[in-house]
Amino acid sequence: MFNQLFKSQSNIIYSKTKMKVTRREFFLKSAGAIVVASSSGIIGSVLTSCSDNSTNPVNTTTLSTIQGTVVNNEITIAIASSPIENKNTKALVKYNNGSGSILVEHNSDDTYKALSGICTHQNCTVSEFDGSNNVFVCPCHGSQFDLNGNVKQGPATTKLRSYNTRVENNSLIITL
Ligand code: FES
Repeated sequence: MFNQLFKSQSNIIYSKTKMKVTRREFFLKSAGAIVVASSSGIIGSVLTSCSDNSTNPVNTTTLSTIQGTVVNNEITIAIASSPIENKNTKALVKYNNGSGSILVEHNSDDTYKALSGICTHQNCTVSEFDGSNNVFVCPCHGSQFDLNGNVKQGPATTKLRSYNTRVENNSLIITL
């Protein structure tokens, strides 16, 4: 009887000891997981995504790029065989070694429009277009601008600047 009781107590003590070890292991593993997650940037990403107004744009495509050269404060683009040759097309004109960006639209009425391609939020290039909602999209934090450059969705709060355009000799000329 005594032996039986002693054995039973021993089992209880053993179980409690084992449970303490298990909890300790749990906390150690949890701490390790936090360190790993933190060093891999997972926590940082979660915190970042919670602290800004990021949104996920839908149905976006990256705009075709045209290289432009500035001469006398103007950029001249040969329209034929370019991404804006046809009506209802859009492209991104890059100039000054890529530091300058202009969104160009060839409209259905055969007119052209040019907007700054530099996002007014934090200066990323507005390089995508959402054809479903007819908005230009900044890939950095999801700001959206309509075809006139007005802000449709933040975090940007200021519209895109527009530039004067004209067509001469089958070339589009943008005045900076
Ligand atoms: S730079 Fe932030 S939305 Fe464009």
